[in-house]
Amino acid sequence: MSTARDGQLGNPPEGRGREAEPTAGSPLLDGHLHDEEAQLDRSLRPRTLDEYVGQHAIKGNLRVFILAARDRGEPLDHTLLYGAPGLGKTTLANILANEMGVKLKATSGPALERPIDLLVILSSLEPGDVLFIDEIHRLSRVIEEILYPAMEDFTFDRIVGKGTAERTRKIRIPPFTLIGATTRGGNLSAPLRARFGIPLHLDHYKPDELAAIVTRSAGLTKIEIREDGAHEIARRARGTPRVANRLLRRVRDFAQVDGEGIVTREIADYALGRLGIDERGLDEVDRRILDTLVHKFKGNPVGLDTLAAMVNEEAGNLEEVYEPYLLQMGFLNRTPRGRTATPLSFKLLGVVFPGDDGQGKLW
Ligand SMILES: Nc1ncnc2c1ncn2[C@@H]1O[C@H](COP(=O)(O)OP(=O)(O)OP(=O)(O)O)[C@@H](O)[C@H]1O
Ligand SMILES: [Mg+2]
Repeated sequence: MSTARDGQLGNPPEGRGREAEPTAGSPLLDGHLHDEEAQLDRSLRPRTLDEYVGQHAIKGNLRVFILAARDRGEPLDHTLLYGAPGLGKTTLANILANEMGVKLKATSGPALERPIDLLVILSSLEPGDVLFIDEIHRLSRVIEEILYPAMEDFTFDRIVGKGTAERTRKIRIPPFTLIGATTRGGNLSAPLRARFGIPLHLDHYKPDELAAIVTRSAGLTKIEIREDGAHEIARRARGTPRVANRLLRRVRDFAQVDGEGIVTREIADYALGRLGIDERGLDEVDRRILDTLVHKFKGNPVGLDTLAAMVNEEAGNLEEVYEPYLLQMGFLNRTPRGRTATPLSFKLLGVVFPGDDGQGKLW
């Protein structure tokens, strides 16, 4: 069966096969953590559910689960956090441990290479602790199979003895909470997914929520900001707190050098324009994607890898960073045969949508 990823082309476009080295993605608008901002990213993290902006339904339910678990004297049920990069998964995991009053031990799918790597961590857990596994979709099969009994019965098997005397011994570990985070929920194996009692899907944030995050971060980093400045940044931050915080730092630079040191709407608008981010939050790569879909493919479906090669961007980045926002804004559709441009993106580029009479009426 063909999937969106290997979707077939409609009409082969001109320039097809033009292979170029993919770029590393937009440095400003991708939600991934950049090395140099790790420390600041941590320092801006809220510590309690009350400080965690937005995600109201999730927070409301978590408050109930936390109270109930604490009341029973049990750890919180295993929790899975899905969501695009920079939406607050690691932050929420730390908050949950904090609200439960327990320690958090952090590791990641790629770091757990050998069974012993996981067994060492499991053996070190104290009752109620949170074991946080980032990028949990990247666990190997062997490691996953050790996790199943650990999650279900708080045990793991250890092989003792040698040769004919070899047998397995069940080792008990204290009850704990596994919190898994993934940007790719679809890549998680079904048996692993089924073992999480609390699956949570983090959504992109609304502009008002991002404005609150920007204002909070400005306060913590002593940046003077006006309400309309915070809203201007929020509107253009692709629904992602990490991007909003990053744009705030860049706008602050412009405010300092070209303005009065205060982040106002005018300075934010000027700075973001200088950075190539338009009023819809689209950057150069977004515009290349829409341009390719509209002009080269004329609204026909395109497979992800072909599109990535044509816009000179990594397929993974396209899928995680660009597509979700373009989908959300209504500029792009994902179909089983590939990606297509919507009437809205034709309109944005001033091109008549095929099947449109040019007066806004469809035939
Ligand atoms: N709800 C929120 N309220 C306030 N700040 C937030 C919120 N969510 C995220 N942030 C801020 O955004 C930044 C990124 O959050 P975090 O590191 O938790 O994202 P993530 O989903 O774990 O990203 P990744 O997928 O790259 O691991 C942090 O500095 C954090 O302060
Ligand atoms: Mg994270």
